[in-house]
Amino acid sequence: MEPFVFFGGKGGVGKTTVSCAYARKCADAGVETLVVSTDPAHSVSDVFDQQFGDSPEPVAGIDGLSALEIDPDDEVTAHLDEIRTRLSDQVSASMVNEINKQLEMAHQTPGAYESALFDRFVDVMRDSDPYDRIVFDTAPTGSTLRLLGLPEFLESWVERLMYKRRQSIDLFEKAAIGNNEPRRVMDGDPVLQRLQERKEFFEFAGGALREDAAFFLVLNPDQLSVNETERAIADMNQQDLGVRGLIANKLTPAPDDDEDGRGARYLRDRIETEQQRLDHVRGSLSPPLLAEIETRTREVKGDLLGAVAEELAVPVDAEEPTFV
Ligand SMILES: Nc1ncnc2c1ncn2[C@@H]1O[C@H](COP(=O)(O)OP(=O)(O)O)[C@@H](O)[C@H]1O
Ligand SMILES: [Mg+2]
Repeated sequence: MEPFVFFGGKGGVGKTTVSCAYARKCADAGVETLVVSTDPAHSVSDVFDQQFGDSPEPVAGIDGLSALEIDPDDEVTAHLDEIRTRLSDQVSASMVNEINKQLEMAHQTPGAYESALFDRFVDVMRDSDPYDRIVFDTAPTGSTLRLLGLPEFLESWVERLMYKRRQSIDLFEKAAIGNNEPRRVMDGDPVLQRLQERKEFFEFAGGALREDAAFFLVLNPDQLSVNETERAIADMNQQDLGVRGLIANKLTPAPDDDEDGRGARYLRDRIETEQQRLDHVRGSLSPPLLAEIETRTREVKGDLLGAVAEELAVPVDAEEPTFV
């Protein structure tokens, strides 16, 4: 299977849990694995009882597994700082103040967070060399995936800008006969160079996500979660990214056959409703349902993680990336 594996789904369904279980399953099979988490609330640090940070660290007690935790707020700040530095080099001092104001606002913009995370995911894929498999515990959402349409858009934009730029340089040269200097302005033009870099970045991202990544969605057997999953599948399809499979998590466990108290009847009722929803998932949603994981009585970590890993019918073999 593809080297990059993403688990998506709405908050709380079990993305982090399933990602860690799958990452452990890969590592146990001898596949050198990195699990990348982005959720400050409940993260790989909680699952493995070990603090992870900005660069990959081996997970204690599990050979062949490392973890990396990305703080989305830090990413947004770093992202905007980088833009600030780059722009400040390119514009007059009087503009810098205005740019800073705009960037402060950009920090609050919906999408700044996702866009910064997306960039970081792509960087992690680019630096994937030491690993056979990278597991991302959050998949890019529909709005982030729209960024993948950018290369074509940027392409015509860059071409248009270059055309304009060439025109003005030509005029400049006609005015300054015999002086070759203006050519250099065009060759090293920082704005065009930056756009070209962004275009290549999105081209890589699109290639890596389409050729080298597999997407799975985690869902719970409740109506909201099933609806959300249908929407996410449609969003992904729109970007030519297929969802490979679905993982149902937090299923109600069955009582023993001889139990017939109120509790047991409640559980059986619940199970029946959940199974109807899962029948709908199997019958109407195109990706296959690959696992049905029951709710455990305590947090999924340690030995429980191994048990959940065994229930995940997701292949672990890792192909070489074609795009890196
Ligand atoms: N099968 C399960 N049984 C019991 N608890 C679970 C199970 N799956 C997830 N949890 C718990 O539910 C909470 C949310 O899970 P998490 O994996 O953090 O979801 P997400 O990453 O999608 O927000 C965590 O406290 C986790 O331990
Ligand atoms: Mg999480």
